[in-house]
Amino acid sequence: MQFLAELLILSYFSIHFAHAQNIFPDHFRLGVASASYQIEGGWNASDKGENIWDRLTHEHPEVIKDNSTGDVACDSYHLWKKDVEILKNLGVDYYRFSISWTRLLPTGRVDKISSDGLKYYNDLIDSLLENKIEPVVTLYHWDLPQALQYFGGWTNLITSDFFAQYARLVFSRFGDRVKTWITINEPYSICETTYGDFQGAPLIHSPGIGDYLCGKTILVAHSKAFHIYDKEFREKQGGKIGITIDTIWAEPRTNKSEDVEAAEREMQMSFGWWAHPIFSTNGDYPEIMKSRIEERSRQENFVESRLPSFTKEEILNLRGSADFLGLNHYNTKLISNTEFPIGEPSFQKDKGTSAFQDPNWKPNKHTVPWGFRKLLNWIKREYDNPLVYITENGFPDEGQLQDVGRVIFHKEMMKAMLQAIGDGCNIQSYTVWSIMDNMEWRDGYTIKFGLYQVDFNNPNRTRTPKASAKFFKTVIETRTIPENITMFIE
Ligand code: FCB
Repeated sequence: MQFLAELLILSYFSIHFAHAQNIFPDHFRLGVASASYQIEGGWNASDKGENIWDRLTHEHPEVIKDNSTGDVACDSYHLWKKDVEILKNLGVDYYRFSISWTRLLPTGRVDKISSDGLKYYNDLIDSLLENKIEPVVTLYHWDLPQALQYFGGWTNLITSDFFAQYARLVFSRFGDRVKTWITINEPYSICETTYGDFQGAPLIHSPGIGDYLCGKTILVAHSKAFHIYDKEFREKQGGKIGITIDTIWAEPRTNKSEDVEAAEREMQMSFGWWAHPIFSTNGDYPEIMKSRIEERSRQENFVESRLPSFTKEEILNLRGSADFLGLNHYNTKLISNTEFPIGEPSFQKDKGTSAFQDPNWKPNKHTVPWGFRKLLNWIKREYDNPLVYITENGFPDEGQLQDVGRVIFHKEMMKAMLQAIGDGCNIQSYTVWSIMDNMEWRDGYTIKFGLYQVDFNNPNRTRTPKASAKFFKTVIETRTIPENITMFIE
């Protein structure tokens, strides 16, 4: 009898406890994201200028998996009211979207401001606020003005000045209503995937050199925008400004010390490249990054390191230049130590690591909640528990309405995040990528991430909720992650 009572008490507590673990803390915020090039279309509407993705998709359709473009995409330039409607239906606390630089400034420069561009973003922001949805705005989500690419784009430090001027204009025009700013989305993708690995606009192949030049400009551009906000706008507008950095979780492939070190090096060089200058106590690039690139450059007969150094002033300006760390996370990878022979330089050779995704991971290789939890704890330890906003987390599939894989993914990832919060990590928001299916860069429309399906064959680009939309709506309404997901699936 006593045993039975104990069992009952125990199971009551374990159910209760499991439930408590699935509840979001007070004030935790839930939202969804998009990016201008991926959803807006209207690529040459009104006086919009050309950007590097317009140029790439028009001149080199062969590099996009389905030869598609973002010319129309979800047509949010015309259908933004529909976007606000679905956001309202989901009940999100905020909507993270990006401003298309050339829609606002057709030449990239502030001497010519597009009044239609201004109107477009003003209308969107006003309508979001009327519907009690906070606008969270990214200044740069990969669509650099083509006019700035002519003189090297992000490999030229002067681009940081153009970015700073653009940022000042955006703060001055929209900052009365926008209170959360993200300067730059995913510096690693902007610099490494494009200049280093030939994977996106402007499709320039300059591994181990162009990627590092780009990296310096991006970081300096971020710090300039931060200080402009800090000095000229913060007092009056009272918002927050940060940067969004993407990273995998690097898990050692074996427990041999060389692989354990390689995984740590992967974190330091892929993520710390961006986070260390801003969030660490000492600032600057991580030591291991400086020493490895310097040493390899020497062996390759360069007269100085291929990694451009920061001046003392740049280091100081970067250190602490964010009110929050925006984190985009998609994958965990197994990392092993790999020694590459001296030859043509590259970031991968500088790092000396190889990555591997285990196809046997359950429920699938994309859904690795334990990696997410480890990553969040690593950030907590490494940068003294900064304020973290999860600015993207998402699951790829073929776009079916019964997107069970996505429901499981978000359920498990959010649970892992709540566990990390239980570990003491200071995480205050979670953003699903994406509100709807869209133009997935070089994958075109072959991979989908949306909570809403978009009918790309219909001129109305009809948006239809998937199972994951119903699931996320319930999460937002109840502020709880439901254990049982069968009710969302038909
Ligand atoms: C991220 C990008 C976003 C989208 C998702 C799937 O790296 O920021 O635009 O492409 O991946």
